[in-house]
Amino acid sequence: MSIIAPSILSANFATLADEIKDVERAGADWIHIDVMDGHFVPTLTFGPLVISAVRPSTKLVFDVHLMIERPELHIASYVAAGADRITVHAEACVHLHRVIHQIKEAGLPVGVALNPATPINVLENVLDDLDMVLIMTVNPGFGGQQFIPQSLQKIRQLRGLLESRGLGDMLIQVDGGINATTAKLVREAGADVFVAGNAVFTEQDRAAAISALR
Ligand code: DX5
Ligand code: ZN
Repeated sequence: MSIIAPSILSANFATLADEIKDVERAGADWIHIDVMDGHFVPTLTFGPLVISAVRPSTKLVFDVHLMIERPELHIASYVAAGADRITVHAEACVHLHRVIHQIKEAGLPVGVALNPATPINVLENVLDDLDMVLIMTVNPGFGGQQFIPQSLQKIRQLRGLLESRGLGDMLIQVDGGINATTAKLVREAGADVFVAGNAVFTEQDRAAAISALR
């Protein structure tokens, strides 16, 4: 089972609602929404106002990836804007356990993202509380980067840990440099949810691009 989540970071922002509808028609399972604040990562993208503006354009899952500092201050805004699931960065949370439960109490599935240099063991004491782990396969902040090969061992290590803890049905999401070639590698390593920006939105034929990831 592979869930394909095109990242709108690489979409045409001038026609964002149409782009979302286009990838829905093309077979996308989720819409990955890369929120960046220009502090946690260098790029500034969009926030709750844009998300609520495009919310009516699709019923697909809005998979919101918060690459922002102090996410605990903003969870309610993203819930109100129409997020269906929220992922925060472990590196951005002083009180990660509290933020995870803040999202769960809002009724949404919760994910925690790990940057390439962050070891899996930071999740040791919260793993049972999660619905998904996002293994960043690039350093966050930009689309169109090269896949970091060391990510494969990290995905395998996480999948093994989840199995050993009886959490085998937890989702592992990968994000960054995912294309037809790397999708095969990360699937074999144990990933379930594939985020792809450039590999989908730079293609004319989005349906073929999405099929190539499955
Ligand atoms: C990077 C974002 C990714 C990015 C992926 O910080 O989190 O979602 O949009 O883009 P591609 O698939 O183009 O590498
Ligand atoms: Zn992302």
